[in-house]
Amino acid sequence: MAIANVLVVGSGTMGNGIAQVCAQAGLVVTMSDVSSEVVAKGRAAIEKSLAKLVEKAKLTGEARDQTLARITTSTDVEGPARTADLIVEAVPERMDLKLALFKTFSAAAPLHAILATNTSSLSVTEIASATHDPARVVGLHFFNPVPVMRLVEVVRGLATSDETVAAVTAFARALGKEPVACRDNSGFIVNRLLVPFLLDAIRAHEQGVGSLEDIDTGMKLGCAHPMGPFELLDYVGLDTVYAIGEIMFAEYREARFAPPALLKRLVLAGRFGRRTGRGFFEYDQRGNRRP
Ligand code: CAA
Repeated sequence: MAIANVLVVGSGTMGNGIAQVCAQAGLVVTMSDVSSEVVAKGRAAIEKSLAKLVEKAKLTGEARDQTLARITTSTDVEGPARTADLIVEAVPERMDLKLALFKTFSAAAPLHAILATNTSSLSVTEIASATHDPARVVGLHFFNPVPVMRLVEVVRGLATSDETVAAVTAFARALGKEPVACRDNSGFIVNRLLVPFLLDAIRAHEQGVGSLEDIDTGMKLGCAHPMGPFELLDYVGLDTVYAIGEIMFAEYREARFAPPALLKRLVLAGRFGRRTGRGFFEYDQRGNRRP
């Protein structure tokens, strides 16, 4: 089945990144979100990312214009779902939101359409239960920043068909990504290993093992990680990591997935990281870290 028309629901960091890479691969994309202000912010992020690529001579000005011309923004889901070959949902990690959306997708989308979720920790099988054909529901988990990170986790729910897995695996390759197959266990492959590591860095800091800067430097220079754990926590968003930790802890009931108190306090204080200007570190308006 050829995928030509994609609907991305959610225009935040992940949604706008997914819309961008789809449009860069020549697909016709609708990016939808709850309000025109929110979706305009998503489009502005795509423009900024494409400008970066043009600046580095990785993309021509013409290709940028063609990419942008392939992206339509909308505040509707049902209308654009009617003509979609693939829908990728990238809304916040709340099961109630996802179930309501997948019910809508299932009623509106053509019978051949694949319904994918970019969830990083919720159950694809549970999300599929809101649809009338769970064989066409699959996890398609991208990584942040989407235009740069090459991995896509392809997550098979209990009812996902082989055809659906094959179609989205080919789709991920067509985007220039490297797909890996995962079972529907909370956190799949990467977050199952990454989240306990990030939470452990917070515990190590709470226990006085080292300063934020020294722990970050340790992992960057000692293990060649591109970012230290605290930089990465702020980059991904403390609210996101907290939500993923809670979901994984609920699934596995293992202490290593439980968000530490300090993470919870920062989230309660609204310090979500780079996006809000403050997390473990502080950031200016452009997202650059303050000394
Ligand atoms: N769009 C386009 N290009 C971008 C970009 C964007 N949004 N962000 C970065 N780039 C490009 C830059 O232009 C630059 O290109 P060149 O190599 O040609 O110069 C390149 O990427 C590197 O960027 P920078 O020079 O700005 O900075 P950097 O070298 O520090 O790299 C980074 C930035 C790619 C984010 C790097 O620090 C990194 O890989 N960090 C780790 C990211 C990571 O672990 N992501 C996974 C998070 S977990 C997740 O997403 C899953 C989940 O469910 C929580």
